[in-house]
Amino acid sequence: MELASDFLWGGSIAAHQCEGSWQVGNKGPGIMDLVTKGSRDCERQITSEIQPELNYPSHEGIDFYNQYETDIQLFKEMGFTALRLSIDWARIFPNGDEEVPNRKGLAFYEKVIDTLLANGIEPIVTLYHFEMPKYLVDHYGAWGNRRVIDLYLHYCETVMRFFNGKVHYWVTFNEMNHLDPKSEQSDIFTYMIAGVKYSDMALPVQELAQIGYNMTLASVKAVALGHELNPKNRIGCVFGFNPIYAYDCRPENILKAFLENDRDYYQSDAMCFGNFPKYKIKEYETWNIQLKREIADEAAFANGKLDFIGLNYYLSSVSKSEFERKETESLFGGVQNPYLEQSKWGWGIDPMGIRYVMNYLYRRYQLPILITENGLGAVDCLEADGSIHDEYRMSYLAKHIEQVKKAVTEDYVECLGYLSWAPIDLISASTGEMSKRYGFIYVDLDDWGKGSFKRLKKDSFYWYQRVIASNGEILDPLVKKVTLPY
Ligand code: BG6
Repeated sequence: MELASDFLWGGSIAAHQCEGSWQVGNKGPGIMDLVTKGSRDCERQITSEIQPELNYPSHEGIDFYNQYETDIQLFKEMGFTALRLSIDWARIFPNGDEEVPNRKGLAFYEKVIDTLLANGIEPIVTLYHFEMPKYLVDHYGAWGNRRVIDLYLHYCETVMRFFNGKVHYWVTFNEMNHLDPKSEQSDIFTYMIAGVKYSDMALPVQELAQIGYNMTLASVKAVALGHELNPKNRIGCVFGFNPIYAYDCRPENILKAFLENDRDYYQSDAMCFGNFPKYKIKEYETWNIQLKREIADEAAFANGKLDFIGLNYYLSSVSKSEFERKETESLFGGVQNPYLEQSKWGWGIDPMGIRYVMNYLYRRYQLPILITENGLGAVDCLEADGSIHDEYRMSYLAKHIEQVKKAVTEDYVECLGYLSWAPIDLISASTGEMSKRYGFIYVDLDDWGKGSFKRLKKDSFYWYQRVIASNGEILDPLVKKVTLPY
């Protein structure tokens, strides 16, 4: 069995990580414009105002705002049939609460989307990839406030109407599932996803739980809205599902790992099953958290079921043991898996994990899955002749795509396509670094924003071109290295 002939191939990017031009075209500041550069060992900070002496990588991005035509041409050259990109809310509504949209913001995305369509690339639009207008943080308290749900829906309706008939695939949110109060409370990622507060303030569990609920409600309402506007719209939500394995087969450890994993699934349960899970409400009650809900929410959950699930997959981790106390800590609070290699940033490389999660999701929800992100962040070496030999990236991707194929052809998982993160080097979300590179296209820019912004093709560029042309049949990096045209 082979992948379907209409299997989507391409990549994913996000506005705040690539566009730059953060004040051009009447764009308002967004929360991500206040996030400083960090590194693996130094957490990014969210400042309440811009501090001129600090480095804010989103301000320049990789200059996609001005270079999108060049970039899309390169995507086309690789054979892309799809590109997932996000719209930055603050380009459309600079403060987030205006009635009338900013024409210049709409015009920018219209040019990008028209260029994609003219090149035979299906745009898959994420409506919220951590891009919360700052004004809504300062004046409304962001997702903690239900009024923000209505403002988000107004924004969704505006862009869904504007691009009606041009965009068929919509994503309501990126990775809201790392918000559980018990798991990653103090992590910078939590603040970015939630689009709230500034990093020196700890989010109380009550607030985090309410934010998770409100965002889930916003998503189901956006799905219903999109279906009403055009029944042909296919609307999904993207989740980051990195499996947590048990430390060993002691039943206590199996149960512990299951429960830790399960914290990531309550929002997808709500969006696929049509009700906010009772198990979550009860769990919150035992922590004295009373979610603010309204009667009409029940109907909203019932009417806003997803059409597909977007899966971001990078790594797996291992849960700590209930018994041992001497394990080597890994980055995400678990222990290092002795059977896996780790990336330079400590992410456990586990190709089989993607097949595991695809199966788990498909059997739990029986909805098609779109791989919306998968890739390796690595330090690339630019040779004197302008070449970049990134065998490690090809090898990582080949092993993961092989497992995606097995999930489809051997386990019968419905999969709409595979989108790599990211087809072009861009700013890392967790660290703000440029040197954590994912692309097939190298961008000449360093961690301090210095460089020519020139685009260069890495070896993996030609490799991915061959993968796409063969519909995933030719994956071996070594074969292609011998025959590559340079
Ligand atoms: C995903 C996010 O969680 O991981 C992306 O949706 C992010 O925005 C990607 O860039 C890779 O993470 P990082 O931190 O290496 O950029």
